Amino acid sequence: MPSQPKVLIIGASGLLGRCIYDQFSQDPNFHTVGTASKRTRDNLLQLDLLNFENISKIFNTVSPQFVIYCAAQKDPDIAERERDMTLCLNAISVKLLAELCAVSAAPLFYISTDYVFDGTKPPYSPSSKTTPMGYYGKSKCVGEKYTLQYQNNCVLRLPFLYGPVEYPGESWLTSLINPLLRSEAICCDHWALRFPTYTYDVADVCYQMIKSIHKGIRVSGIYHWSGSECYTKYEMALGLASALNVKHHRITPNLPTSEPSNRPYNCRLDCSTLQMLNIGTSTPFEGGLRKILLASNI
Ligand SMILES: NC(=O)c1ccc[n+]([C@@H]2O[C@H](COP(=O)([O-])OP(=O)(O)OC[C@H]3O[C@@H](n4cnc5c(N)ncnc54)[C@H](OP(=O)(O)O)[C@@H]3O)[C@@H](O)[C@H]2O)c1
Repeated sequence: MPSQPKVLIIGASGLLGRCIYDQFSQDPNFHTVGTASKRTRDNLLQLDLLNFENISKIFNTVSPQFVIYCAAQKDPDIAERERDMTLCLNAISVKLLAELCAVSAAPLFYISTDYVFDGTKPPYSPSSKTTPMGYYGKSKCVGEKYTLQYQNNCVLRLPFLYGPVEYPGESWLTSLINPLLRSEAICCDHWALRFPTYTYDVADVCYQMIKSIHKGIRVSGIYHWSGSECYTKYEMALGLASALNVKHHRITPNLPTSEPSNRPYNCRLDCSTLQMLNIGTSTPFEGGLRKILLASNI
């Protein structure tokens, strides 16, 4: 392996990809290259993952030693409506990349989700049987399967992510900022349990995993990472209101009358495999909220 291995981050313009790109860019021991579809600034290469020729061309031009796949169609509602595009982005292009990576012995890291589980039997370990409820989770299971066809590759499953945004509407949590500042009435789900995970913590986990491989430690297969605090969306909204120092009497909890059939209740992930490798960073939710408000100039 070269002394300054190249890390190719696919989807480096997204909520998570930006942090991973930032983390690797700060280490001169790595040569960091990123791709974006529409937001191609900061030297990111333009890549359309729906165009397979484009994937091979970028891969061969960069010739990476590691690839991290952060691109996705992550909206469960869009995934249900636009299944072909979702499958292509979350799985078929991953198959092609996995094949390209295998030829050059470059480990592929596929970012996946806790939505591969139905949330009825927490905690979930990496070996737990996947039981996705919707098409988003199903397509991610297919992406995982293609990734794991080659033994050097890794799948990293994550729960609800929050982090610095480019505009408030970029994530569910930050989309509440302006309504809260305007004291608008907000109604949030108070049923499903979430484990908000700070995007820079995930970036550090990816960085530590790749550094371990670079040092010759065997890291492959399925891993989980998650923040340790448990909140409903309603409780997260209350936390955000406190961080913004605004009143929260207009935030109301929404409790469904019957159990929703399309989203999981509690997908707590067991992260012990990474912890045993001494890998993992957990920013408390309150501190993470303060960081995103500062970083996003809000
Ligand atoms: N966000 C969460 O709460 C969450 C939770 C669990 C797991 N995950 C997983 O974490 C990963 C990252 O999620 P994220 O929230 O960072 O997603 P995101 O903000 O939506 O970013 C998606 C990335 O994919 C790129 N992309 C979209 N369509 C593309 C296409 N046709 N060709 C090439 N690139 C394309 C986007 O590029 P442009 O923006 O430049 O178009 C962007 O860089 C995903 O695998 C997701 O499933 C996310």
